[in-house]
Amino acid sequence: MSKYILEAVDLQYSYPDGTNALRNVNLPIHQGEKLAILGSNGAGKSTLFMQMNGIYRPDSGCIKYQGEEISYKNKALIELRKKVGIVFQDPDSQLFSASVWQDISFGPLNLGLSEEKVTERVKQALIDTETTDLQDKPTHLLSYGQKKRVSIAGVLAMEPDVIIFDEPTAGMDPRHSQEFMQLLNSLSDKGKTIILSTHDVDLAYSWSDRLAIMYRGEIIAQGLPGELFSRSELVQHADLTMPWLIETYNELLKKGWILPSTPLPKSKEDLFKIIPIKSGQQTA
Ligand SMILES: Nc1ncnc2c1ncn2[C@@H]1O[C@H](COP(=O)(O)OP(=O)(O)O)[C@@H](O)[C@H]1O
Ligand SMILES: [Mg+2]
Repeated sequence: MSKYILEAVDLQYSYPDGTNALRNVNLPIHQGEKLAILGSNGAGKSTLFMQMNGIYRPDSGCIKYQGEEISYKNKALIELRKKVGIVFQDPDSQLFSASVWQDISFGPLNLGLSEEKVTERVKQALIDTETTDLQDKPTHLLSYGQKKRVSIAGVLAMEPDVIIFDEPTAGMDPRHSQEFMQLLNSLSDKGKTIILSTHDVDLAYSWSDRLAIMYRGEIIAQGLPGELFSRSELVQHADLTMPWLIETYNELLKKGWILPSTPLPKSKEDLFKIIPIKSGQQTA
């Protein structure tokens, strides 16, 4: 078996109008990892995701699933999409059924599962996305954030191995966004491979095991989040800003309040632990 569950190899892609959206993109994805693709608007994140389950076909290069180049024949694509699910950036392009329940059950019904199994999966997806009380609502009456959560439920109910979330928290209120990040962690604990795109540097830094930075159709860096964010010229070049945790860490370091050997905080709680207890400990 391949080392990687999914892999983009030398991808090149231009839209029919000539926009060169992907240039020489190489991105291996490890089984079970939490990977964030970070990039400003128009960097090519959504275009890359559309390649990953065969919605778009590259001009050259390929996508591999478990080491094998994907096929664009109908049957193969249907099989691939059972394993690699995408939650689109725009929920309106995902939701199409009359009611929330119907929408979420559509995918599992198409998998040919029994009625009981479908019901079980839909109920779980409703719970996971906190949409149980919306189940009988027509999808077109939902708010943007609610639509977003229902579109996520629809993909969860398919139980794919790899779940790709395109800017999942955009348009969600802070509490739902926080709950959603917890849901991602629990999916990850169950062994799912999770890829998300975002332009939110704080989210990308705190959540991901590994980070890829996109800029104008290229992946300009990939690696550990702490390492990439220690390169301020890279962050600037990609039109991004520093995560507030790293800015705070750097300031504490500059003031001499912490030692250079202090580990980078990944969360607010980590940061609170490294802040010196007494202001009398200040050395600068
Ligand atoms: N359907 C399309 N036709 C032509 N150009 C497009 C289309 N969709 C996206 N683009 C262009 O491709 C580039 C990458 O877009 P996209 O993948 O949506 O970026 P991101 O998701 O990072 O914001 C942008 O320059 C965008 O304008
Ligand atoms: Mg996008």
